[in-house]
Amino acid sequence: MHITTLGLSTELMIRRWSGEVLDRGDHQLVHTPDEPDFWMGNGLAVPPPARGEDPEAWFARWWGAFERALPGCEHRALLVDGDVGAATAGAVTAAGWLMHRNVALTTVDLATAPAPPGLLLRALDGERDWEQVAPLHLTSDEAEATPWNAGLPIDDSYRAFVRTRAAAKRAWVERGYGAWWGAFAGRSLMATLGIVSDHGGTVARYQDVVTHPACRRRGIARALVVAAGKAALASGAERLVIVAHEKSDALRLYRATGFVDADVYTELIRRPG
Ligand SMILES: CC(C)(COP(=O)(O)OP(=O)(O)OC[C@H]1O[C@@H](n2cnc3c(N)ncnc32)[C@H](O)[C@@H]1OP(=O)(O)O)[C@@H](O)C(=O)NCCC(=O)NCCS
Repeated sequence: MHITTLGLSTELMIRRWSGEVLDRGDHQLVHTPDEPDFWMGNGLAVPPPARGEDPEAWFARWWGAFERALPGCEHRALLVDGDVGAATAGAVTAAGWLMHRNVALTTVDLATAPAPPGLLLRALDGERDWEQVAPLHLTSDEAEATPWNAGLPIDDSYRAFVRTRAAAKRAWVERGYGAWWGAFAGRSLMATLGIVSDHGGTVARYQDVVTHPACRRRGIARALVVAAGKAALASGAERLVIVAHEKSDALRLYRATGFVDADVYTELIRRPG
């Protein structure tokens, strides 16, 4: 299956670094054996319903395909290479699944955005920097859910998941797939994000932008997005890609920072239980 959207193609680029993405002809199987509870790392990438295709039949087909491909998973996850339309969205939500429309935005250039006073923007370097990444995400999640994790309890298993993801990010950086950046007040990490690309690739994709809840609305995320993006462009990237949930504050921020909408891909999830 040929992936057409910038959003999903860069997502699958990253999934390959910690797992496998297998072309199965009419879909792609995304599998992260080490992290069976990583919903978006274990799912099927599928085309959206064709014009005139029955939404219920489309949904039943891919739901069944997921269960045959990943029989051990407690969740269900489909990554749709585009928009699904209102009728399919209705079928999906009626079945108790969640739907996230993710907007991919892109730019080839960024205007300068200086760091707010007292903060140093730089790539993470060493244990003392990296050990702050998972706690910062957890502090943010405890203060305010994102559209993606709304309603999820911040329990031991969630904390373990966030720590495992942080370890994966560090491994990508160590294997040369890009950099993780931070906004530091002294040695304390106040905001972070990743910017990564395939070896030799010309598209750099941002990951997991977060600012400490006590430091928001001071221009930190914007400055960090710009600093990391400029560094990636200087290192050979020709295009920057960032993804935001359609109902997020981040989407407004990225548009105001100079990114323009490129396309949409859709996550369909049935959580375990
Ligand atoms: C989204 C997020 C990263 C933004 O971080 P931030 O550091 O607050 O971002 P900024 O300060 O650069 O911009 C946020 C807003 O503050 C405004 N702002 C910037 N400097 C400001 C200042 N000095 N005074 C008042 N407002 C200011 C910006 O214009 C922007 O306004 P908007 O909400 O109208 O778009 C943060 O809210 C967060 O961590 N959310 C949870 C995780 C998340 O959803 N991440 C995004 C994943 S795609």
